[in-house]
Amino acid sequence: MDADWEARAEAYITGVFAADSSGHDVWHSIRVYRTAMSICSEEKGADPVIVGAAALLHDVDDRKLGGDPAGQPKARYFLLKVHATEEETEAVLRAISEVPFKASGTVVPSSLEGKIVQDADRLDAIGAIGIARAFAYGGAHKRPMYDPFAKYSGDPTEEEYLRGSPDTISHFRQKLLKLKGMMNTEAGKRIAEHRHEVLESFLEEFADEWEGKFRT
Ligand code: ADP
Ligand code: NI
Repeated sequence: MDADWEARAEAYITGVFAADSSGHDVWHSIRVYRTAMSICSEEKGADPVIVGAAALLHDVDDRKLGGDPAGQPKARYFLLKVHATEEETEAVLRAISEVPFKASGTVVPSSLEGKIVQDADRLDAIGAIGIARAFAYGGAHKRPMYDPFAKYSGDPTEEEYLRGSPDTISHFRQKLLKLKGMMNTEAGKRIAEHRHEVLESFLEEFADEWEGKFRT
């Protein structure tokens, strides 16, 4: 890949994600990139170029943004522009294709690089930022933040998951609280531990405030 591929990838994704307010802005990809590079430095045998490129490009063909995840045209276009070899292109595209969370349709990535990027992507869905993203997404999709009468399945099929939870608090049970137990790497498991606690204490505070209880 050309030596300046990272700066060009950041510029490229800034254009692709311009004006997104559903939690998929360019900063999500940049955070995933930073977290993935930290995890990568602890994982022997992972190729940092594949991890970095897959992290920065992991959402450019996302179906939620009207992309084509099967053909991956945007990721392919960018890799061609920075002169990625055939081997690099294949490794990056494969890692990206295995990242998404699809409830029962989720896969464990076949490569170490894919496992690292999947962990980094999931870590951005938990903790303080994960909470903010969930409500940003819920608002963008016109869902109530909480509906006490909402019927949801805590264990949705892939199809039910894609249809979306009726309210954002349900999404915590459908996805966010499960992520800690789904980490692939040791570093991912360690980082998830604290971010999971942040989710749990947030849910406790939310429930108390909803009931009109307060802490002093
Ligand atoms: P990513 O592309 O980062 O893997 P998704 O595309 O599944 O994640 O979702 C993007 C963000 O929106 C995540 O933080 C996720 O938790 C949140 N999100 C996805 N579906 C819902 C939903 N039904 N309600 C609230 N937040 C959601
Ligand atoms: Ni993502």
